[in-house]
Amino acid sequence: MKCTLIGAPVQIGAGRLGCEMGPSALRIAGLASMLTELGHEVGDIGNVAPTPLKPLLHPNPAIHHLPETVGWIEVLEQAAYRESEAAMPIFLGGDHALSAGTVPGLARRAKELGRPLFVLWLDAHTDFHTLDTTQSGNLHGTPVAYFTGRSGFQGYYPKLTHAVDPANVAMIGIRSVDPAERAALRETGITVHDMRMIDEHGVGVLLRPFLEKVKAANGLLHVSFDVDFLDPSIAPAVGTTVPGGATFREAHLVMEMLHDSGLVSSLDLVELNPFLDERGRTAMLMADLTASLMGRQVMDRPTPDYA
Ligand code: ARG
Ligand code: MN
Ligand code: MN
Ligand code: MN
Repeated sequence: MKCTLIGAPVQIGAGRLGCEMGPSALRIAGLASMLTELGHEVGDIGNVAPTPLKPLLHPNPAIHHLPETVGWIEVLEQAAYRESEAAMPIFLGGDHALSAGTVPGLARRAKELGRPLFVLWLDAHTDFHTLDTTQSGNLHGTPVAYFTGRSGFQGYYPKLTHAVDPANVAMIGIRSVDPAERAALRETGITVHDMRMIDEHGVGVLLRPFLEKVKAANGLLHVSFDVDFLDPSIAPAVGTTVPGGATFREAHLVMEMLHDSGLVSSLDLVELNPFLDERGRTAMLMADLTASLMGRQVMDRPTPDYA
């Protein structure tokens, strides 16, 4: 498969600095050569930079770096649309605010192809705040609310031309949800699989019906992978660690099932903060998990037909 690496060193959406170094760490971890070894044709367009700032002031005093965030959303919407024409784009983050750009750009591409876009959100958090409800003011907490078309962004974030149907969004790994997000999620069709459900049913059982749904709809599948989906004991390099995350085996299983499904058309790798890492172990784990998603396996296996 053809894939293109796109660096998106956005860090101002998070509460602490350091995600700017994420694209470098993922490259140094050997992501491109791992994918080449798996037989993929890998390109790297380098890092993108945000569009110029326009002054913007929101009444919520907690919000910080709003113009910068908008600049990133604009450039990433364009990059996602453009780079998804001929290859599978892999966005190297950068904090999760970047998905407020990548997902709408991919939705525009999907619309042009006449296919629905589905989003798998692997995260400890739902990132379902609007500009009015965020209390931290960290805008990496807002992308899902924005790209599913919730109101509360008009006049601030770019006008959303292609929203993702909330019924096409599934979240796995959730274990930290603010009250306003929880109330808003009740009113949507988003599927939320929290850690309790993983404990009780196993992650494979939860993922399979979603993959079947994507396949039945002839959908495109975007995977947005936040480092804090993983348990902090295996992935310390993230500013928003939450105990009780996905294990090494659970995470690899998700990636392997995604590979076997043949449905994944784009990927975000987000929230890696190399300043908080231990000898690069989190960056290397993210690269290894991406290799699993792109076909690395322990033994030869026939592609199963469950999805
Ligand atoms: N809900 C919290 C907030 O809004 C945490 C968000 C964490 N998001 C992330 N992409 N790591 O501040
Ligand atoms: Mn997130
Ligand atoms: Mn998170
Ligand atoms: Mn596989």
